[in-house]
Amino acid sequence: MPQTRILAIESSCDETAAAVVADGRSVLSNVVASQIAIHQKYGGVVPEIASRQHVEAIVGVTQAALEEAGMTAAQLDAVAVTAAPGLIGALLVGVNFAKGLALSLERPLVPVHHIRAHIAANYLAHPQLTPPFLALVASGGHSHIVEVLDYTAFRVLGRTRDDAAGECFDKAARVMGLPYPGGVQIDRAAREGDAQAFRFPRAHVDGAPYDFSFSGLKTAVINTCHQMQQKGQPLPVADLAASLQAAISDALTEKLMLAAAHTKHRTIVLAGGVSANSGLRARVEAACRERGYTIFLPPLALCGDNAAMVGAQGFYEWRAGHTADASLNARATMDIAEPFAAPGRAEA
Ligand code: KG4
Ligand code: ZN
Repeated sequence: MPQTRILAIESSCDETAAAVVADGRSVLSNVVASQIAIHQKYGGVVPEIASRQHVEAIVGVTQAALEEAGMTAAQLDAVAVTAAPGLIGALLVGVNFAKGLALSLERPLVPVHHIRAHIAANYLAHPQLTPPFLALVASGGHSHIVEVLDYTAFRVLGRTRDDAAGECFDKAARVMGLPYPGGVQIDRAAREGDAQAFRFPRAHVDGAPYDFSFSGLKTAVINTCHQMQQKGQPLPVADLAASLQAAISDALTEKLMLAAAHTKHRTIVLAGGVSANSGLRARVEAACRERGYTIFLPPLALCGDNAAMVGAQGFYEWRAGHTADASLNARATMDIAEPFAAPGRAEA
């Protein structure tokens, strides 16, 4: 059987990315243009600047992805694009570009949910991984425990009630004086620190055993920093970073293991930008080893936003017939379990 080669586009936040993926499993090319350097001076992503950067970068990034794959656009079988959730102006750039490309090539247009794509990053690195399994998705905007029942069937068991894990890393890093994006800086600083130095809270949500809450933790770190600064004490950044990382990793791992025990899933998958965190990876690996579970971690290069993961999920969406027509629109929020509107129906 000839391979199905999908061009995938990702523009939901601050990376403009394009990739070509064959049969959802092999990466023929993966090009990412990061805007980090631009947003760094503002301490976070500025949505309008992100949209404008996507507009400038998207054609070049797509051409580079085709070139790297050694293909012409005419050889593509479909065009997949992240259509939700994310920054709306940023998403619109990718959706509109992908739509134009799919229409002009007369190929199917496949809308992809960003969080589904993060999970699918694991299919690219682990050929033996197939659903069902239990996934922890932790990124800048999301912290979810998700049952992946099939490639396109999901059930959310737990989610954050307030801040996402990545947001907590980033905001805490800011008060510690670390540059954006803070998560990776905290990971680095934590290596030299004592995780027991500060006892930060591990919140429980009453009546919702798999839900997370990180706003109390964020406030505790901010208050600790402010109090020390008011007293004129230098911030022990490494100890703060290690203690924060331990608190986030503990909360995520504990609830993930609880959900695994209750649902009887023995295959665990991590996904999203925060799954690059070395403390979290070690903690979840150890917990899985103790219980005899199989753990799959995305390689570091596929943890953050990229288009290869969109191509992986896009293949399974395409195979399930989940294509869109010319009326496809982007959505800033959307549940992972929700399907995109069927062709012909207007998007909400
Ligand atoms: O998945 P992602 O690239 O974008 C979203 O979909 O949100 O996740 C970005 C988040 C940021 O909050 C960033 O600080 C965090 O992932 N992150 C990390 C690490 N690398 C990226 N957090 C902790 N440790 C890391 N090594
Ligand atoms: Zn993401």
